[in-house]
Amino acid sequence: MLEDTSFALHPGNEQQSKAVIYRDIGSVKTYRSEDNTYYFHCENGYIAIQFFTNSIVRVVMNRTNKPELNDSYAVVATPEKMDIAEETSDEQIILKTERLEAVIQKKPFRLTVNDKDSNVLLEEGERGMAYRENGEVIAFKKMNDNDHFYGFGEKSGHLDKRGGKYEMWNTDVYAPHNPETDPLYESIPYFMTLRDGRAHGVFFDNTFRTTFDMKSDREMYSYKAEGGQLDYYVMAGPEPKSVLEQYTHLTGRMPLPPKWSLGYQQSRYSYQSETEVREVAENFINKNIPIDAIHLDIHYMNGFRVFTFDKEKFPNPEQLISDLREMGIRVVPIVDPGVKKDAEYAVYQEGINQDLFCKYMEGDVYFGEVWPGVSAFPDFTDEKVRKWWGDKHEFYTEIGIEGIWNDMNEPAVFNETKTMDVSVMHRNDGRPAVHRELHNIYGLLMGQATYDSMKEQLNGKRPFLLTRAGFSGIQRYAAVWTGDNRSFWEHLQMSLPMVMNLGLSGIPFAGPDVGGFAHDTNAELLVRWTQVGAFTPYFRNHSALGFRYQEPWQFGEKYEKIIRKFIQMRYKWMPQLYSLFYHASVSGIPVMRPLLMEFPEDMKTYNLNDQFMIGDNVIIAPVLSPSVTDRAVYLPKGEWVDMETGAGYQGEQTHLIHAELDQLPIFVKRGTAIMQTEWTSNTDKSPKDLNLHVYAGENNESYQFTFYDDDGETFAFENGLFLRIAIEVKSTADAVTVNTAEHSGDYLPAYDKIKVHVHGLDDSQEVILNNSDNTAISLVK
Ligand code: GLC
Repeated sequence: MLEDTSFALHPGNEQQSKAVIYRDIGSVKTYRSEDNTYYFHCENGYIAIQFFTNSIVRVVMNRTNKPELNDSYAVVATPEKMDIAEETSDEQIILKTERLEAVIQKKPFRLTVNDKDSNVLLEEGERGMAYRENGEVIAFKKMNDNDHFYGFGEKSGHLDKRGGKYEMWNTDVYAPHNPETDPLYESIPYFMTLRDGRAHGVFFDNTFRTTFDMKSDREMYSYKAEGGQLDYYVMAGPEPKSVLEQYTHLTGRMPLPPKWSLGYQQSRYSYQSETEVREVAENFINKNIPIDAIHLDIHYMNGFRVFTFDKEKFPNPEQLISDLREMGIRVVPIVDPGVKKDAEYAVYQEGINQDLFCKYMEGDVYFGEVWPGVSAFPDFTDEKVRKWWGDKHEFYTEIGIEGIWNDMNEPAVFNETKTMDVSVMHRNDGRPAVHRELHNIYGLLMGQATYDSMKEQLNGKRPFLLTRAGFSGIQRYAAVWTGDNRSFWEHLQMSLPMVMNLGLSGIPFAGPDVGGFAHDTNAELLVRWTQVGAFTPYFRNHSALGFRYQEPWQFGEKYEKIIRKFIQMRYKWMPQLYSLFYHASVSGIPVMRPLLMEFPEDMKTYNLNDQFMIGDNVIIAPVLSPSVTDRAVYLPKGEWVDMETGAGYQGEQTHLIHAELDQLPIFVKRGTAIMQTEWTSNTDKSPKDLNLHVYAGENNESYQFTFYDDDGETFAFENGLFLRIAIEVKSTADAVTVNTAEHSGDYLPAYDKIKVHVHGLDDSQEVILNNSDNTAISLVK
């Protein structure tokens, strides 16, 4: 096509940009308050300012009516009661909580949101909130020279999103995933601004196609939607971690996942028969490579019909699942939303007979082509449909399946627009609305239907759900994998900022296809990618039909050995990772973090793409290019120890670090500790020993860390069956003291002691443990 050549830049193609005329909301005519909400009637519409908590304020603009405050799919919190101080004058109204200040200038309506010390967070200038006659709504905000932006969910490119324009419209993109490819599968209309060490957040709760423009104007950024209300929340921070706590207070947090879902998972599009799946499983066991799950891609089904098995290739799925379970391996089948149009297929018959599929307003079912051919799509915006779809999963749960993989749920359709006709009319639980409005939440509601029903069906066991598409709040139901990447070094590089920004967007359980999905991987790339995967929250190797198989042994002994080392390493880190997952489930703070989250004062971390943190004290600095065995590593404030060599490094400096193909540079902060165990072949096997590795510090530093454990698979922890130990490490000139002051919960693990290993002890330092036998901390209460 000519468009793909230099012709695209033909001088004749230049178009004068047409100035878009927005109608400003205008001046305040009257206002009144009701509980925590202030309603403003302005010249050209209505605005509500609602205080949600002391540190979260919501702003809603409606062009024609009193703002609707109760129609969010994403928000699960309700406004809290609080005292709001008011100061009014002819020009302005100031509303204050303990942590926030909203200053409303009346003529015209302009809003400034400040923190409690009157530092400006969000400010409007010449332009404020406005709309167009076509339904578009927009907010303009001043952009500070020192503003750095993060979040926006699943985006390609670098960590700092300043200088880009981002669209939210769930899209199936097979290729390419370039730095400019936008949008992708997930829509998280949320970002965090970091300015001179202080952070605040904005969540634009609008399900239409939205656009965030942090690029076009040097002094201003904007966010807009094709329709609906301008409805956004400002979160006061001031630390990046508190912004995330505030955002996940609104949109919910990841439920504690089953431990097995943190283990290594192997996938392929597709393992095509029971025999092949058994062979893969046996290989892992025989080769001492730990594994917790094998995925079944679309070929397990009969002609790609969901809720069926291909009886020839998978004659006895129940037996397969129970045999693999004996080996400690779970089976995770794919479930796509498209239901094949086939008059002899029961699921299709039910969908038609019970009126469960997406339809046009005039009554015709919408059909689109996906893997099974012409298909109909369940209307997940309807409670009845969610229940039906959820119940259908008994097909899987009754034969021992505990995990489901949702794909193609943007929804993807093989046509020009890549999705459903935007004029399809969804039922929307009694408030019918077109697909144009609800497109972005299709995957979220499919996730809700699946997770909630599986939870009921699994009799107390925790379900695992993996999804490709989602909207803000998807973390309540599913882990996210980042779709169809390729076996390119560039895609390995890009996966780091992408997963870090997902973590900053409230989705702590995420990861890319390790090894790359499409294209042929190679030994070196697979090794380096597995090293990263061992520390990304979600760890699955997946590859595409027609390309090279990439199981750990596919490139011979030499590489298999290295890959084994790193998958085993994942399991050694399991106690630490599980504790961090627990922490994420109660606070929203991600397991895998950009350095800026722990060091927001350090500008060198603001766009550091090729390193990440696990928790608050470990830095992983993987090699991300071919043939490279030395790389620059930036270490922030503190003193750091290379875990493999024991060498010490000064912070606030860049070091050249050597890493052969079988090495991954990992640094632990001195004065802190991490919990590890011996590797096991899967997470069913409880470790016998726990090892607390303490890295001695020097100067009166103390460090706290909460170790968490439970049975790993049920919800019994909600009733007290867990083990939580607050560990404190204190280093002084003459001693390293390890205390386990707080010890709670009734869970009795297989281990009864934590062995303490102190690294880098100075001659003048002794080790003091709270039970004084100097080798271990006893768990007996
Ligand atoms: C999509 C998914 C991919 C899957 C394939 C076949 O491309 O993103 O992971 O393997 O469909 O189901």
